[in-house]
Amino acid sequence: MHGGIEQKFGVLFVCLGNICRSPMAEGAFHAAVQERGLSCLVDSAGTASYHVGSQPDARAIAVAGRNGIDISGQSARQLDRDDFYRFTHIIALDRANLEGVRARAPRDGTASLAMLLDAVPGRRGEPVADPYYGDAAAFDTAWSVISLGANAWADRLLHEAAQLKA
Ligand code: 4NP
Repeated sequence: MHGGIEQKFGVLFVCLGNICRSPMAEGAFHAAVQERGLSCLVDSAGTASYHVGSQPDARAIAVAGRNGIDISGQSARQLDRDDFYRFTHIIALDRANLEGVRARAPRDGTASLAMLLDAVPGRRGEPVADPYYGDAAAFDTAWSVISLGANAWADRLLHEAAQLKA
């Protein structure tokens, strides 16, 4: 988890197991905000608890590594109640997980809920397919879609940060 004193944003990515898609999203988005000089708390979690404490899937670590990003230090955790207050944005990787996030949201939670591809023009509401039962190519496809979404969100937050300053 990373962030600075004057950070305005906190972004939490959520998938099912927190070992494939949301760890890739956390890694890609963390790199994207750093490239833009944006200060932002970044983390990921799963709606399910099966893999709590696990490192990301080896195939996710490998595809991130091929793209210059090290996600091997991440450890899976389950979404919890505090997340709805600590983060400004909770971003789900697919529709089922967005529904899972919604179902757990406290009435007075402050995070806004969205999907990863909502920030990509023309792809609002599109899911990122689960590569868990797929092959290495499925992880390459997932990485490219996730990277597109992560960069689009970083652009959106950079724009919002500039508006807050103005
Ligand atoms: P993720 O992928 O939600 O992208 O982390 C999955 C990981 C594990 C399982 C399903 C999806 N599982 O059923 O164990």
